[in-house]
Amino acid sequence: MKEKNAPIAVFDSGVGGISVLRELVKLMPNENYIYLGDSANAPYGTRPVEEIRALTLANVETLLGQGAKALVVACNTATSAAVRILRGMYPDLPIVGIEPALKPAALHHPGGRVAVLATKMTLRQEKFAALLEHYRSQAEIIPVPASELVEYVERGELDSPALFSQVENILDSYLDTPANAIVLGCTHFPFVRSAIEQVAPRTIIYDGGNGTAREARRQLSVMGLINPSSEPGSIEIQNSSGDPEKIMLCYRLLDA
Ligand code: DGL
Repeated sequence: MKEKNAPIAVFDSGVGGISVLRELVKLMPNENYIYLGDSANAPYGTRPVEEIRALTLANVETLLGQGAKALVVACNTATSAAVRILRGMYPDLPIVGIEPALKPAALHHPGGRVAVLATKMTLRQEKFAALLEHYRSQAEIIPVPASELVEYVERGELDSPALFSQVENILDSYLDTPANAIVLGCTHFPFVRSAIEQVAPRTIIYDGGNGTAREARRQLSVMGLINPSSEPGSIEIQNSSGDPEKIMLCYRLLDA
């Protein structure tokens, strides 16, 4: 039986999963967290699925070795590639993955155009095909591969002219007319949300971070694993790159 005060492990390919950690901390400030970003190997989204799987399994093993009571895979790409295998490997552990928030976008824009910005990898996987199949009768779903944006966030480049023209290029290439909604299907993208909003000013943006945090709280609660402490919990940030600037960037993003 896991201890209620054990940390929640949060994993991403790099710094993007901080957008999910931020939601977790807002919802459950009294929990302890260990965050691991694999920036040494980011981006994941342009790698073959076998590689993403192997990297995810190895990093999760490192994280869980530190005594976590639950795992949040704060990466759409790693979730698509490996969450099912992780659940088979750790059957007693609450494991929450993230997937593009297509459901609220399709429900709020019936008959509308919903663009899903994600890595190539996420858009190619079975999990996304199933989501598409499920919601395609409610709205026109337009997959938009946007892996290029991941590297801007990894560099902490969140509002440069180069970023704006990259966002413009991506949206222009896939959308002949503006979408009603854009789903941020990669956890790095909430950090370039303001660039996306400026390029697509009348589009409503959906981000799955809050829903993922709520699902984590639900699973912890079902398993009786909510930390009863009334004190603010601890947050430890680790990064495979060993680069102290990445850690500083993570803390900056956590406050963004
Ligand atoms: N943050 C990851 C996601 O949510 C992807 C970033 C990457 O390609 O490494 O999909």
